[in-house]
Amino acid sequence: MPNKKIILSGMRPTGKLHIGHLVGALSNWVKFQNEYDCFFMVADWHALMSEYENPSDIRKNSIEIVKDWIACGIDPKKSKIFIQSMIPEHLELAMVFSMLTPLGWLERCPTYKEQLREVSGRMLATYGFLGYPVLQTADIALYNADLVPVGVDQLPHLELAREIIRRFGSLYKKKLFKEPEPKLTEVPKLVGLDNRKMSKSYGNFILLSDSMEEIKKKVYSMYTDPKRTRADIPGTVEGNPVFIYHDLFNSNSGEVKDLKKRYRLGKVGDVEVKEKLAKALNAFLEPIRKKRSEISDSRAEEIIVKGAEKARMVAKKTMIEVKKCLHQIV
Ligand code: TRP
Repeated sequence: MPNKKIILSGMRPTGKLHIGHLVGALSNWVKFQNEYDCFFMVADWHALMSEYENPSDIRKNSIEIVKDWIACGIDPKKSKIFIQSMIPEHLELAMVFSMLTPLGWLERCPTYKEQLREVSGRMLATYGFLGYPVLQTADIALYNADLVPVGVDQLPHLELAREIIRRFGSLYKKKLFKEPEPKLTEVPKLVGLDNRKMSKSYGNFILLSDSMEEIKKKVYSMYTDPKRTRADIPGTVEGNPVFIYHDLFNSNSGEVKDLKKRYRLGKVGDVEVKEKLAKALNAFLEPIRKKRSEISDSRAEEIIVKGAEKARMVAKKTMIEVKKCLHQIV
């Protein structure tokens, strides 16, 4: 497949995945597999940059994420699935890039400034954390990725990656790496159960691995139109989380249409809307849950070992070329 464009993306293993990851990222990754040469990486070094004081869950989370990916349709036969730390070349290339990245570029990075400001209880004013985008650049350049599927929050990192790659090219007079383009998802961030953005820290998510009962409970607790204190008051459908979810997860569009109509007229109770949503969500997630339960830890390990083997062949070749640029003996 020499003409296929290369895609690389990654997720930090900070916990199990929720349905926001599915609609925002994974459903796209699944489609990309048929069109592109895909590398999907668990960014465990990146997780360690913020979790270094408490790293005990990272390994377990990495395996859980790989299971979530496969359950959602990431296919180890089509894509290279691996964990970043299995391929030491990521750190090697990050070290090279760190030498030519001006401090100012990193200090000015909005994600870095925001995290330093917002995150409390963790000491993030470290050398490693400042270099977060440098390692991300290495992830991308190691496989010479053309496209990087990310959310808008990652755009500053992609811009830095392009700048670092450009600087490498101009210093060593060699265009070893393509400048990667972000590939943004069309779906905006999925709203959480409480109408804020779905996020681990808000506890307002539905996990891919939640049981039927848990989903029911969560859906029943969902935020709806606050002005509708009684079922006979006409309600607003637009921007209402319950209907956003119906649109995304309920395959019975006739039912959704009917519910919306009655909701607008004040002719349906929240309970019915939520009951039907819980059912639809469960039907949607059932095949994912089933597939997930069939993947053992050892099967997941086997998949990443094979994926890493394939990815590493590419990574090693890249490092040989990089070292030639640096006049290093290999
Ligand atoms: N920083 C990304 C995030 O938090 C994860 C990541 C690490 C990544 N390396 C990457 C994403 C390379 C794309 C490409 O979401």
